[in-house]
Amino acid sequence: MRIVTIIGARPQFIKSSVVSFELRKAGIDELVIHTGQHYDKSMSAIFFSQLGLPQPAYNLEVGSGSHAVQTSKMLVGIEEVLLKEKPDLVLIYGDTNSTLAGALAASKIHIPVAHVEAGLRSHNMRMPEEINRLVADRLSSMLFTPTFIGKKNLLLEGFVKEKIFLTGDVMYDAAIHFSKSIHPDDLSIDPNILNNPFVLATIHRAENTDNPENLKGIIKALKKISEQIRVILPLHPRTKRALQELDLNSSLSPSITVLEPLSYFDMIYLESRAQVIVTDSGGVQKEAYFFRKPCITVRTETEWQELIDTKWNSLVNPADSDGIIDAFNKIMTPVDWPQLYGSGDASKKIVLSIDTYLRK
Ligand code: UD1
Ligand code: UDP
Repeated sequence: MRIVTIIGARPQFIKSSVVSFELRKAGIDELVIHTGQHYDKSMSAIFFSQLGLPQPAYNLEVGSGSHAVQTSKMLVGIEEVLLKEKPDLVLIYGDTNSTLAGALAASKIHIPVAHVEAGLRSHNMRMPEEINRLVADRLSSMLFTPTFIGKKNLLLEGFVKEKIFLTGDVMYDAAIHFSKSIHPDDLSIDPNILNNPFVLATIHRAENTDNPENLKGIIKALKKISEQIRVILPLHPRTKRALQELDLNSSLSPSITVLEPLSYFDMIYLESRAQVIVTDSGGVQKEAYFFRKPCITVRTETEWQELIDTKWNSLVNPADSDGIIDAFNKIMTPVDWPQLYGSGDASKKIVLSIDTYLRK
């Protein structure tokens, strides 16, 4: 029994780390293809060394490019490996171009696909991620969904319930597992930045970086917030480039503390100590919740509606800097903290289902 895991972008390294660990425990042979979508040390290699991921058997090194260029290179590379390795199942994560390419390449040559983080929807077809996840779900034989809403979405779209596995969220597993084992020596952040209260912010989503009105709105709001409290901004390379193009980079400091992309340990350490988190990241919205931090999401919709319903997260239009500042000034920490993302055993449940599927 052999499975091939296809990953390529930062959040996929984190998600797959806990599942790979369980696969090893279950004695399932896993071979990893890294598409090379993310390639900077701080966006890729650091996660392999820190999270104990198996080294990829193949790195396709596709690099950056337009959607078509990037996805087509992945398709060619993945198909070649799958034809050679003949796995019994292909495992894909999330909603990136690497997810889409994995689903397409495998399903066309009749290799069953299992999708971790199935069923999430923003209902915004202008997001590349929404297109990727719709296609990936449709082509998958096993749909591992993290939330009740994800399961409901899949049922509404007509998927048979036998294909749907409500497992909880592997990112919750990772946050629990790794936050317990972080030692101060593992951290690279300057400890001085922890001396005073701070807001942690991340921005990288295409609809914000590629829309100057949105990006300027967010930066204006963060600068204003930094007059009250330190703002720490680890910068995704996409955002760095967009800020350079708008000539905004130099105006960020000293009010905003801009950092390079952080390791996962540094990131969750900061999240767990922040007063408030401001983000457009899917993963960071949930990690805010895991660490019981109120979050402002600078987007017009979210795939994690349960965070809005429980009032741990507020959605604010990114172009509306006054709206972001207002949300920040009104922020409250709710009392109730329901188990929205399972009990930290999503990866175990996923591997158990995969094992059963492969034995049939
Ligand atoms: C991708 C995913 C997004 C996910 C994000 C996680 C798609 C369509 N988008 O977005 O869903 O939330 O990853 O971080 O798959 N770059 C570098 N070095 C790197 C990687 C990227 O400099 O190691 C720069 C390049 O200029 C590149 C840009 O970032 O053009 C965007 O990278 P890309 O992988 O295309 O998309 P992300 O914005 O990272
Ligand atoms: N992350 C990280 N370093 C950073 C920013 C984010 O390790 O500088 C982690 C974060 O803790 C979360 C994941 O990357 O686990 C989220 O990835 P990202 O925001 O890039 O993508 P998304 O979740 O929006 O797809």
